[in-house]
Amino acid sequence: MNVKIESVSFNLLKVEYLYGMKQVLHIGNRSALLCMLLVTVISQGAQSQMNPYQYTISKSATGKKGAVASAHPLASDAGLQVLLKGGNAFDAAVATQLALAVVYPGAGNLGGGGFLVAFTEKGQSISIDYREKAPGAASRNMYLDKEGNPRLELSQNGHLASGVPGTVAGLFTTLKYCKLPITALIQPAIELAEKGFVITAAEANSLNSTKKGFLKYNTRPTAFVKDQPWKAGDTLVQKELAGTLKRIRDNGAAGFYEGETARLITEEMQRGGGIITLQDLRSYTAAERTPVVFDYKGHTIIGMPMPSSGGVLTQQMLKMIENRSIEVMGFHSKESVQLMVEVERRAYADRAEFMGDQDFVKVPVKRLTSDEYLQQRMNDFVAGKATPSTTIQAGAIQPESEETTHLSVADQWGNAVAVTTTLNGGYGSMTVVGGAGFLMNNEMDDFSVKPGVANMYGALGKEANAIQPGKRMLSSMTPTLVVKNNKPYLVVGTPGGTTIPTSVFQTIVNMLEFGQSPLDAVNNPKFHHQWLPDQVMVEKDFPAALKTDLEKMGYKVTQRGQIGRTEVIRINWKGKKIESIEAVADKRGEDHASAY
Ligand code: GLY
Repeated sequence: MNVKIESVSFNLLKVEYLYGMKQVLHIGNRSALLCMLLVTVISQGAQSQMNPYQYTISKSATGKKGAVASAHPLASDAGLQVLLKGGNAFDAAVATQLALAVVYPGAGNLGGGGFLVAFTEKGQSISIDYREKAPGAASRNMYLDKEGNPRLELSQNGHLASGVPGTVAGLFTTLKYCKLPITALIQPAIELAEKGFVITAAEANSLNSTKKGFLKYNTRPTAFVKDQPWKAGDTLVQKELAGTLKRIRDNGAAGFYEGETARLITEEMQRGGGIITLQDLRSYTAAERTPVVFDYKGHTIIGMPMPSSGGVLTQQMLKMIENRSIEVMGFHSKESVQLMVEVERRAYADRAEFMGDQDFVKVPVKRLTSDEYLQQRMNDFVAGKATPSTTIQAGAIQPESEETTHLSVADQWGNAVAVTTTLNGGYGSMTVVGGAGFLMNNEMDDFSVKPGVANMYGALGKEANAIQPGKRMLSSMTPTLVVKNNKPYLVVGTPGGTTIPTSVFQTIVNMLEFGQSPLDAVNNPKFHHQWLPDQVMVEKDFPAALKTDLEKMGYKVTQRGQIGRTEVIRINWKGKKIESIEAVADKRGEDHASAY
């Protein structure tokens, strides 16, 4: 065993130890350290569970047997512990999601929805759709006033903004691929909710800045509001949420969609003018769907189909660059960035026109992804010159609200799982279900409330994404796998509203075309074009000279906040054996990578 004490500060010891694996630990004092190391020697690689009152963040981790990357150290650790107990990547994905619902209330959730894309050890590609649905009483013009003007306050905040949650149904649909029972997978979340965990400065700021919203959109006191402002080091305890998790543990999905939890949801809706009913909850089902699968230069890309636009947009964008020698142009050259901006523009124009829930509308996916069509789409591409988008009303952009979350998992058997899950905006509708302790989504805003009216991400939509009872709203979430030689190679995904597909696209291109490491591919500055508004949005560390080059070509370039929080896992194979599994958590947040 090779032990390296990396740093000593206050009473914390930061230790790095290696068995062909790497892990960074913070523990309380030196005797605890020695004790822990002894345990480690005896158990040959067992890793102690993270302390919820004293933990640290690791941006990359490499192992041989499994890895998890997610938005929170305690959630990644919940997944890692499940892998250590013999669970597979599906088990770890379920445990990580449940833990995120506790430790990352801004986006982790029980009251939202999500998508899972996976490649199994048997070589099967799967996708699970647990996107929220419009309630039965929803109607096409429910967010318009008498004059037909949109009332976005109602689609974006409070009780009426919520779709019927899908997350719990999604977790139970995932269980058929799992090895461990739900009782084991949910336990870390129950403990984190019941006993609490220490929050960071960023989490304290986030809760403090949402206090007004929590007070406005709730009918009962919530765990997220206290008299004094939150500060780093405070403990967040969520007893009511723990109760809900226990009902799910004991009664399965019925512990959420029926009985006490369902009653609490509908009572909350009635108190605040929402429309979700017991019947909406009882009839909610997740769906296993045929994933989007296509070839890109010898790699198989597996993505999420409708009602996510993510898989089709990724296919369109990659296929539009495939024969244009982008690797020769080079990373962040003005030629490669302009090409990528133009394919993003064209793909997003199709999103606005054609995409929606295929259970309700016909989406011409075959045509949209055919080589002939995509070649035609690029006929008017002129290298070195911006192609203007048509002049339709541009939307207001609120990048701070892009609070979706992604987790990537891989195991020693060759299962790889990508999950993106969301409440939509930060803390969703901001409404916490009284007595049940979880936040409801504001996903109804992802419908097109009126043709030509932008949603909170500035995205436009038309008939295909109009509101109908029971319909799923169009999503941008893009959990994606790259498979090479019939083995999982990359697991990729990110939050970020409409920027999600472009982040995933750029991360994949960075690795497959520009030969970047997962760390560089994730952390390098990103850019985004979504057809309308007609502008290239760039992160603040995007090179200034490149910005000037784009402006000279006729682009409007605007600086915006961070784009995404991408989690990548790369699985390196030597023949039929895994040589290493590298996990990377985005520098842009408190995301954390674990591996063993
Ligand atoms: N709510 C973000 C998305 O689904 O795209």
